[in-house]
Amino acid sequence: MSTTIERAATGLAETLAATLRDVRDRTLRLIAPLDDAALREQVDPLLSPLVWDLGHIAGFEELWLTRNLDGPIEFVEMPGLYNPFEHPRRERGALALPGRAECVAHLADVRDRVLERLATVDLGPAAGPLLRDGYVYRMVAQHEAQHAETMLQAMQRRTAPPYAPADRREVPAARDHRLAQAGATGAMVAIPGGTYTLGTDDRTAAYDNERPRHTVTLAPFAIDITPVTNAQYLAFIADGGYVRDEWWSPAGRAWLADSRAEAPMYWTLVGHQWRTRMMDREAPIDGTHPVMHVCWHEAEAFARWAGKRLPTETEWEVAATWDPATGAARAFPWGAAAPTAELANIDQRAYGTAPVGAYPDSTSPLGVSGAIGDVWEWTASRFGPYPGYETFPYREYSEVFFNDEYLVLRGGSWATQPDVARTTFRNWDYPIRRQIFSGFRCAADA
Ligand SMILES: [Fe+2]
Repeated sequence: MSTTIERAATGLAETLAATLRDVRDRTLRLIAPLDDAALREQVDPLLSPLVWDLGHIAGFEELWLTRNLDGPIEFVEMPGLYNPFEHPRRERGALALPGRAECVAHLADVRDRVLERLATVDLGPAAGPLLRDGYVYRMVAQHEAQHAETMLQAMQRRTAPPYAPADRREVPAARDHRLAQAGATGAMVAIPGGTYTLGTDDRTAAYDNERPRHTVTLAPFAIDITPVTNAQYLAFIADGGYVRDEWWSPAGRAWLADSRAEAPMYWTLVGHQWRTRMMDREAPIDGTHPVMHVCWHEAEAFARWAGKRLPTETEWEVAATWDPATGAARAFPWGAAAPTAELANIDQRAYGTAPVGAYPDSTSPLGVSGAIGDVWEWTASRFGPYPGYETFPYREYSEVFFNDEYLVLRGGSWATQPDVARTTFRNWDYPIRRQIFSGFRCAADA
């Protein structure tokens, strides 16, 4: 091995170690304000007790970064207490789960063994697809980051007392008047019809469901410049959005009757004023922020009320990434640079949304703003494989969830960490779910 290649390999191993460390720092900082009882408590049957997430994170890392590197892949999820298929979320509160000290010690113990191995492992072109370029390390780091977002959903559910973040960062004010105006009115931008690309061929970080990059043909359409704001959503409520059922699909009406919802989750009417709570902050609804904690049925009903519809995930990705000047998709709406706190509201530290127009440099070439961060955006698309899809490295991440019952969400939220906040990333959930940090934007036929 030449010294240049050795140096490159060492550099990559160090980068991967730093990625794993950054994600772990976040996880530990998130749980720092909570005591053992709070960590063990299950606040919602849809969400795990937080110690379960911690044990599962350690188990997944041990499996993929130690055991599965030793030979044929024996397990894709760890057997036992932390296997998500053996123990569905609603049952996890009844499991005999360890306390914080034991969990944190287990996480550290696994990590020590992982780093020891990482120092000598072959990540070069001769390694298999799991190790080549460090793929499996990024997969494990993303897995922990995704669990950290789910843990934040559970933290947002807590009320007595509410979760008090230790490291909140204030979000910027709206700096772009035109974008703020678009957020107030639901202004749209026209996207020409044509041939575009969707997805990626990346094998260093992307999940199997994002591959392969393929060509798509789209009819001309229009799409909202910003996510739908609270101001727009309040107008829907004021117009009888939750009372008149003409805007709701049959499934939406069933959800409405069952849930008796009158507004997004976490909204309360105090006198004549809608108020909301984000973690430990309670305040009147701010009309300039994207609406959050709505389910797909609410998004769809709003779109019908507005005379619009939800975008397909193809329309969403094209509007967020396509650069007509180069005839190619950008990695991010703003270009190739990785997301930072200046470009988008990501990385969890805001513990809530920012006003639309707060990130003027994030606008895509086709004129779409706020695609990355703030709120996951519901789309009209069902979760399925792209043409040419190949499962890698295990069926239980994507393939077993390819199902018409799941709707795709795009773009990440304020609670998404930078490694996961990418334009090709596909999230999915049931259309009735709204404990997730979800909003939407609308589209329309040209
Ligand atoms: Fe998991």
